[in-house]
Amino acid sequence: MNIGVIDSGIGGLTVVKELTKLNVNIIYYGDNLNVPYGNKTEEEIYYLSKKMIDYLINKNVNLIIVACNTISSIINKYFTNYKVPIISIIDPVINYIKTNNINNTGLLATKFTINSNIYQKMLKEKLVYSEISPNLATIIDNNYNDKDIDNIIKKHLDNLTKHNIDYLILGCTHYYLVFDKFLKNNNKLKYINPSLEVVNYIKDKLISTSNPSLKIYTTGSINTYKSILSKLDINNYKLIKK
Ligand code: DGL
Repeated sequence: MNIGVIDSGIGGLTVVKELTKLNVNIIYYGDNLNVPYGNKTEEEIYYLSKKMIDYLINKNVNLIIVACNTISSIINKYFTNYKVPIISIIDPVINYIKTNNINNTGLLATKFTINSNIYQKMLKEKLVYSEISPNLATIIDNNYNDKDIDNIIKKHLDNLTKHNIDYLILGCTHYYLVFDKFLKNNNKLKYINPSLEVVNYIKDKLISTSNPSLKIYTTGSINTYKSILSKLDINNYKLIKK
């Protein structure tokens, strides 16, 4: 079984990390050249993500996980009639929150995700406060220094915790790559990681193999991938520059 995974950049590797525990074939596409998607228009996001989805379908994937909250905000509008299932990263989070009857939730996400109102519409009063981060994903994708990332996270957490929240949805897959900094700045909040939830949501449908492979296509820098993959302790992969 071949699982396609797409993101605007390296954020979707947090989904790949969870998938590697299940022994499946993974084909990843990260469009780092065009990161951040979160500050683009709906039309731009549609065309860029369609390109990745079509590319992976030509590589014979059996399903595609949209490892990006920003793209997931539009998939119900544009990507329902495809020959393979295209899985949103947002639906599993909603399912998790509702099933566990979680309230007092905050959301940190890109401008597009928050302005799409998708989380707000589905969570209603369970979502107490949403905050846009216009630049955190870009800074993580471009490997800025730790101090900058830490300062931005601290500022967001200060704002978020002024509201009555017990849980925080890390509503952009890039954020979990710097989860240590969220924890360092606030270890009392309960964090919800959509990358984990999406894999939990579909894992019963996945068929494992004795010889799993990971192929990564990127429009960005091979070296950035090498360093993040090593940080995630993912060692066997083939990296291809698009
Ligand atoms: N990783 C993407 C997400 O989950 C967004 C990053 C971007 O703005 O490109 O929303």
